[in-house]
Formats: sequence, structure tokens, C-alpha cells
Amino acid sequence: MTKISDTIQYIGTDDLDIDLFESQYDVPEGMSYNSYVIIDDKIAVMDTVDNRKAEEWKRNLAARLNGRTPDYLVVHHMEPDHASLIAETVKTYESLTVVTSAAAAKMLGNFFEGVDFSSRIHIVKEGDTLELGHHTLHFIAAPMVHWPEVIMSYEAQEKVLFAADAFGKFGALCNETDDWACEARRYYFNICGKYGTQVQAVLKKAAALDIHTICPLHGPVLTGDLTPYLSLYDTWSRYEPETDGILVAYASIHGGTAAAAIRLAEMLREKGAAKVVVSDLSRSDMAEVIEDAFRYPKVVVAAASYDGGVFPVMHDFLYHLQIKNYQNRTFGIVENGSWAPSAARVMREMIEKMKNVTIVEPVVTICSRMKASDVPALEALADALV
Ligand SMILES: Cc1cc2nc3c(=O)[nH]c(=O)nc-3n(C[C@H](O)[C@H](O)[C@H](O)COP(=O)(O)O)c2cc1C
Ligand SMILES: [Fe+2]
Ligand SMILES: [Fe+2]
Repeated sequence: MTKISDTIQYIGTDDLDIDLFESQYDVPEGMSYNSYVIIDDKIAVMDTVDNRKAEEWKRNLAARLNGRTPDYLVVHHMEPDHASLIAETVKTYESLTVVTSAAAAKMLGNFFEGVDFSSRIHIVKEGDTLELGHHTLHFIAAPMVHWPEVIMSYEAQEKVLFAADAFGKFGALCNETDDWACEARRYYFNICGKYGTQVQAVLKKAAALDIHTICPLHGPVLTGDLTPYLSLYDTWSRYEPETDGILVAYASIHGGTAAAAIRLAEMLREKGAAKVVVSDLSRSDMAEVIEDAFRYPKVVVAAASYDGGVFPVMHDFLYHLQIKNYQNRTFGIVENGSWAPSAARVMREMIEKMKNVTIVEPVVTICSRMKASDVPALEALADALV
């Protein structure tokens, strides 16, 4: 079991059976729901876990309590993957107080009908502290670092930041690898991507603290040199590209658009693009393609026309980028159509709604299949992108 220290202990659970996290994210390596307990004169439990792992969590908690009773349940985030077991825990430990934000307190009644929390809540705000004995928790508001009620807490004695969903990743702890960034990036952009400004605000507060350990609600506890993690979060939340390169994302029904997209990718490589990643939107993991779109500074969208619009997976992809606040990037557009091409118009309209984006010319139109006569336009687009 993950060890933080003798007095701060891990009581979370791995979930290897979940098909889709939040009903949309493929998690081939599973997921972890992290929870911690601080053992001191007072005992504080830091969040619960998803209901799917209730029994295991209760066993983990009981094993760490050694017959003692917890005094506090600190709720950093009300989303059910962490908060499912609040009502049950409050019922089990009758002297326990829930410590959380005012916004979270308002949500409690909606999640747990018929449970009277009124005499059981201690509301905290930015700057408040909770003394446990040797340990002291300092609360930090982190609104919209996933949900509006989110708080983080900093334990001053051992210099631990309980970071809620920030610094989390996909993957169960038992499947952990050395490559933190791969699944942390996919998690960040899909789950927190919309809230770069709010993440920046929290990073500024974190910079003022001496942090030795980050305890997130998913993924490994982070220790040692924390600079690489903090610096990636800074880049990501500024909407700055992380790696030079070009994503070519295509939506093709019968393969014509795919062939043009693959040819364009070869041209980009020949012309010296640092890295070119090609994704078939019908078959790739959408969350992974979104991650790549944020990772690189340039994106080519290539799509078949469809019912006077664009082939739906491309619409879905651009819609995802819009709602995740995608910005500061360069786009190239390729469309395909057999009688009245309409894909480029729709893609352009969707892209133009994004902040600080550039669409490079020419926008290339292919009629059914890429032909020799299309090559100069594709070359021109490749030149404009590299
Ligand atoms: C259901 C359906 C709707 C389509 N709608 C349009 C359309 O509105 N305008 C158009 O020019 N082509 C339309 N097409 C034709 C495709 O866009 C065209 O054949 C294109 O070359 C397909 O590219 P692909 O080989 O990459 O699938 C439609 C095709 C299908 C199957
Ligand atoms: Fe969350
Ligand atoms: Fe979460």
C-alpha cells in the first residue's frame, strides 16, 4: 500500500473493473480513488471513495484506525467518485464532523436525501485552519478545479498538499508506470481543461507553500522533485503547447479523406515538421485525440461532408475542443464531398468560435478521391503549416 508517512496513510482503492470512468473515459489500466487518513490527537479522514469500492475502503479505514474513532471527514470535492460514502461514514461514526466548503455543504442534501447534516458540518474557507495535534490543515479554495465547491488543504507539519482532482491521472496504482505525464495529460485536458484560469490561480497559491508531497484524489502520491509536475500543470493551464508537432485528425467514411490526410502527414514530415500524429476520429480514443490537440501547436482537421454538414465524429471532436476552452492554436482544414462539399464550412464555423486561433490557407477541397490535381493544394497547405 502507498505510504506517505507514519501518520498520514493511504486508504484509497484501485478499480480494475470499471468500463468507462465518468461514463466516457476508457481506462485500460483501471482507476484509483484515493483517500487518506491523518492519525494525530484528532483523526482526520481525507475524502471517501466511489461507492463501487465501499467495502474495501471501509476495511482500509478500520485497519488504520486501530480501534479509534475519526474526528473529522474532510471533503475536498463532492463528486461521487470521492464523496459517495459521506452519509454512511457520518452514520457509522456518530461523533464525526464533516469539514468542507460552504458550497459543498449545500450539495450534501441533494446527494443524500433524508440525512440531517446540520449539526455535523464545520464549514471552512480560504485561510481557515484545522488543528489535529501536531498536524495542522490549512484550507485553500480551488473553485472549478473540477467543480465549484472544491477545496484543497495543506498540512504544514509534513508539508503535504491534498490537491483534490488536480495532479490526478487515469490508471490504478497497481498498474503505475514511470510515465506519469501520459495519462495525467489525458486526464487533465479532458477533466480540467476548461478551467485553465482557475488552475493558474491555485498554482499561484501553491507557489507560496513549501510542498514536499502532493496527495491527489487519483493516481500516485507525488514526492521528490515536484518541479516537473508543477511545470507541466503550468504549461497546460496556460493553454500553451507542450511539444512541437502537428496533429492530423480525420473523419472519413469510405477512406478517401483518410488517404488525403495520410498523404498530407507524409508531406508535413518531408517538409521537416518536428512530429506528426495522425488520428482516425472514428476509431481512436476521443480523449486521447483531445489530449494530442492540446499537446501540439497545430491541428489539421480533414473530414467528409455529410448531410449538408460534417461527418459527425469530426463535429464531436471540434465540439469537445470548444467546450474544453481550446485556444491559441493553428488549424489547417481539408474537406471531401461528392456533390456539394459542406464539411469545411461547418469546421471553419466551429473553429472560429475558439479563442485566438488561426486557420491557414488554403482550405483544401477533395472531390470523392484525392487525385494528382489535388497534390499542389495539399503541398501548399503543408508549406503553410510547417
Ligand atoms: C450519409 C452520407 C451523407 C453525405 N452527405 C454529403 C453531402 O452533404 N455533401 C457532399 O458533397 N457529400 C456528401 N456525402 C458524400 C461523401 O462526403 C463523399 O463521398 C466523400 O468523398 C466521402 O469521403 P470518404 O471517402 O473519406 O468517406 C455523404 C455521404 C454519406 C454516406
Ligand atoms: Fe472530479
Ligand atoms: Fe475525481
